[in-house]
Amino acid sequence: MALASKAKIFHFEIVESTNDVAFELLKEGEKSVVVVADWQTAGRGRNGKTWESSKQKNLLFSFGVSHSIKDISLYLLQVIGSLATKKTLEKYIDKERIYLKYPNDVYVKTDDEYKKIAGIISETNYLNENNCHSVIGIGVNIMQVPDKENVPNAVALAECTKLKNEINIEKITLELKNNIEEILTNSEENIFNTWTKELNIIGKKIIVLQEEKKQYFALSILKDCRLLVEDSEKQQKIIDNGDTIRYEFQ
Ligand code: BTN
Repeated sequence: MALASKAKIFHFEIVESTNDVAFELLKEGEKSVVVVADWQTAGRGRNGKTWESSKQKNLLFSFGVSHSIKDISLYLLQVIGSLATKKTLEKYIDKERIYLKYPNDVYVKTDDEYKKIAGIISETNYLNENNCHSVIGIGVNIMQVPDKENVPNAVALAECTKLKNEINIEKITLELKNNIEEILTNSEENIFNTWTKELNIIGKKIIVLQEEKKQYFALSILKDCRLLVEDSEKQQKIIDNGDTIRYEFQ
């Protein structure tokens, strides 16, 4: 893929959002950056949510790149973020316990529960009709789940690894950066296929949060990464980034 290049790493103590800093650096002329911070005062999650994290406890990471629109299908950015995050966590947690949740969360099986360990958001600013700046923002709970009361189904890496003493946020930053760069050397088709295989969602029962009482079945993942589902009356519907869904991982 034409996007493959080595990113420069920038570390900050406090920022509003590492995604915003990545955009600023790209605007100043950097081609490819990784921005990490010890703390964010206005961390962004998907669908207008905030992303909370205590100081120096977790990975707050953004990968930014300046590129031409032809270089990559933008909907693959989140996919790259989630595949790279899963790969990074596989060094610390058994592969079989890590699940990608559609569209772009990473979950870990702990006892009999599945809990969110990481979230991914991708954002793009268009410079003109040919060029843009894109940022993949990744938050991974490393040492601490920010707010157990409000996020009961979250887990931190330290709670679910046997390698607690080997956890080092700087090292994980490099591992995640390398995994993103490695994935970017693959073809779009290969990335998409790896992702759909990892997701393993086809044929599963899907509950859409806004329609709790209704049940859908996952039919296929469209080329633009949206999910095609069907209800019991064979009515089809497309699920995208703005929807929150529930389904059994296994
Ligand atoms: C989600 O699950 O809703 C996505 C959360 C993404 C959070 C990360 S933390 C680093 C980067 N900077 C932000 O402001 N957000 C992302």
